[in-house]
Amino acid sequence: MTESQNNLRSNQTIETLLNRRSIRKFKAEDIDEQTVATLETVAQHAASSQYLQDWSAVRVEDQDIKDNIAEICHQSYVAEAPLLYIFVADEHRNAAIAERKGVNIHSAEFTLNSSYRFSQAQNDAVLALHAMETAAYSLDLGCVILGSVLNEPSKLIELLHLPEFTYPVLGLALGKPDQSPALKPRMERSTQFFTDRYPADDTNLMHDLDEFDDTVHQYYDLRNTSRPVDAFSDQITKNAVDTGVFSRAVKPAAEKQGFRLDH
Ligand SMILES: Cc1cc2nc3c(=O)[nH]c(=O)nc-3n(C[C@H](O)[C@H](O)[C@H](O)COP(=O)(O)O)c2cc1C
Repeated sequence: MTESQNNLRSNQTIETLLNRRSIRKFKAEDIDEQTVATLETVAQHAASSQYLQDWSAVRVEDQDIKDNIAEICHQSYVAEAPLLYIFVADEHRNAAIAERKGVNIHSAEFTLNSSYRFSQAQNDAVLALHAMETAAYSLDLGCVILGSVLNEPSKLIELLHLPEFTYPVLGLALGKPDQSPALKPRMERSTQFFTDRYPADDTNLMHDLDEFDDTVHQYYDLRNTSRPVDAFSDQITKNAVDTGVFSRAVKPAAEKQGFRLDH
């Protein structure tokens, strides 16, 4: 259950964050250049691990590319998003910078292609995307994050001409909202926030789970209004078994991009 919001502090930023919900239908209106510049600059100001700034984003304007990405996502509305970004973990630029300073980027001493840097770059990309998302909501735009761009990483890499040492992380579709979905419930705060140590007893983690299952089951996703969404436990259970995405798609595609995910 979402915490009673009566006892929370409030200001505009908090209101924006508490009212955030994914938007998947957009008005057919362009986003003006000043807004685009604002969103992109805000994203650049997100924190960056070791200041590597190892992410980039491709703004997709070409309708054919948008259509292709919508196909990869299996989500037609992606093609209609007025603004569409693909955030990319990017060590390509940093490799070029290091190479300019004499580092042999194809030698064992080169580490920007290691698993650690890969996840660090992904973290940076996600933080930048989230900053952009929050700024967008504060400007009355709506967004949806798109993990489904990774349904076919190799196809996306080819479409966007992503070079060595880059890898797509997430998409972000933005626009003026043309729907007003209900806020999706969240679990009890006490099942996600602990004091000092992880609870030894899992009972607390299951606190009010049946009630939460009912609450989630009553939520109607606007993607399919004909039926309520599955109970939370059922959603988790479905996702708890291997879909093969990492071994089948992500690892080989990342390795083809020059990352050594076992290092
Ligand atoms: C990493 C990530 C990937 C996501 N990928 C998709 C996606 O591919 N398609 C989609 O429709 N929603 C996607 N979402 C949105 C989630 O479904 C959504 O955030 C979640 O159901 C909670 O709903 P809310 O955002 O309305 O609160 C993604 C969210 C995250 C954080």
